[in-house]
Amino acid sequence: MQVIILDDEQHVSSHAADWVQELVNKKNDAVLGLATGSTPINLYKNLVKLHKEQQLSFKNISSFNLDEYYNIDPQNPQSYRSFMNENLFDHVDIDKSKTHLPTCNKDQNPRAQGLIYEQQIKDHNGIDLQILGLGANGHIGFNEPTSSLSSRTRIKTLTKQTLIDNSRLFKPDEEQPKMAMTMGIATIMESRYVLLMATGKNKAQAVKDMITGPVSAMCPASMLQMHENVVIILDKEAASELENQEYFDFAEQQNTLISDLHGLLHNY
Ligand code: F6R
Repeated sequence: MQVIILDDEQHVSSHAADWVQELVNKKNDAVLGLATGSTPINLYKNLVKLHKEQQLSFKNISSFNLDEYYNIDPQNPQSYRSFMNENLFDHVDIDKSKTHLPTCNKDQNPRAQGLIYEQQIKDHNGIDLQILGLGANGHIGFNEPTSSLSSRTRIKTLTKQTLIDNSRLFKPDEEQPKMAMTMGIATIMESRYVLLMATGKNKAQAVKDMITGPVSAMCPASMLQMHENVVIILDKEAASELENQEYFDFAEQQNTLISDLHGLLHNY
């Protein structure tokens, strides 16, 4: 795991944007795995800026989102499709027919929909770079604690903590969905590169469990310890419970001395 600790959320987002820019510049038809939630909003803002100011083009990019609420109309402002349109897709030159979310409505079979999503990812030759946020309970995607570490795209019931954490995003008259389709942990583990961002004090315990805890279904993100190419970008608050902070800072300083380690994406 490469752990990078930066001063604040702004630095985390712009550093993450550098990785995405590097990938898109190296492989203009890359397959991106995308996340929603508060954490990636500024990353997407930075990508829009890079598109407008530096002609970063998403024309040939395909994308697969981690998750989508069960049985939600894509037009619903709370759908993750709406989130992606609003925060990224409507502001760059991506072809929306190449953007995918794991949808399932009440007339569809969630198992069949999960298999279709997995097949679509395979048909695109897998995900090059998966962007992740981190739940305060250690979830990635909506793989809540106790999720199988070998899970695939499927339907999950959200935990009470996740429902409470996300209730801030719903107005009193809006119904908050309790189930979602999500990529599984095994699906995420097959991405060639993983970039996880976490910011704020409320993520500090989950960050510690993810990086230094045992690999356990109780902290689904801890499975990333088994991935070959992961970069974790944290702000100081999210890193505050880590005992090895000095080592991570030292390792990052050393890395910058070796030009080949400047970029994460050495296989492209
Ligand atoms: C969203 C997702 C979730 C979030 C996580 C953190 O697509 O997969 O795992 O990344 O719940 O959410 P925020 O960023 O709102 O704290």
